[in-house]
Amino acid sequence: MLANPDSRVTIHMVASLDGFIARKDGSVDWLETSDEFAGGDTLDPGFVESFLKTIDCYVMGSRTYETALSFEAKGLGWAYGDKPTFVLTSRDLRRTRDTVEFYSGDLAQFVNGRLRPAFRAIWFVGGGVVSGECLRLGLADEVRYSILPILIGDGISFFENLDSDVPLHLAEVKAYKSGMVALRYEVRKPRTGA
Ligand SMILES: NC(=O)c1ccc[n+]([C@@H]2O[C@H](COP(=O)([O-])OP(=O)(O)OC[C@H]3O[C@@H](n4cnc5c(N)ncnc54)[C@H](OP(=O)(O)O)[C@@H]3O)[C@@H](O)[C@H]2O)c1
Repeated sequence: MLANPDSRVTIHMVASLDGFIARKDGSVDWLETSDEFAGGDTLDPGFVESFLKTIDCYVMGSRTYETALSFEAKGLGWAYGDKPTFVLTSRDLRRTRDTVEFYSGDLAQFVNGRLRPAFRAIWFVGGGVVSGECLRLGLADEVRYSILPILIGDGISFFENLDSDVPLHLAEVKAYKSGMVALRYEVRKPRTGA
């Protein structure tokens, strides 16, 4: 099946300044940074809510799903609302809600054959293995990289196992009062499998 030309695959994660999305053991305690950048914007909850409505589905790796389940178990809620959430895994994982679907296999075929014809705004939300796979296969149109004001020294990289350069076009930069800098890049690399 041909890819829907209106669909857009975005990779979005939050990372430390040194490019890590989690510590080696998977912990993300460091996401709670405290800083103040006087010239920054404030994230308006109303804006965030209406922005999230523009996302049509989420895709994540199994380890990110397991982290999301552990957040939920701690009472921190499910971050993906009622949007279809596709979890990549070869294992038999617990399905906790109707919106979650598991997939195993060829990611390019899944994105171009199944997701692009059905959804416009497709968001890959991690982790590093899946983001790397998405870029390596030339599936991403956009990378949204939010940098927190912290260095953690070691951890899981934003993009694991990239084997070639990925040229980008910087499309947007926003700095927030919290000290977070949100970067949005368009991927210049031509898509494959489309
Ligand atoms: N800072 C942030 O914004 C952010 C965002 C997301 C995640 N995280 C953190 O990142 C860590 C997880 O990242 P990660 O890189 O270790 O793992 P990940 O990308 O979340 O998951 C990788 C796993 O997904 C499965 N998978 C990937 N591609 C597949 C395919 N084509 N078919 C079937 N299964 C596939 C495999 O697991 P199976 O063994 O199940 O097959 C693989 O080991 C967690 O600690 C999480 O908290 C941080």
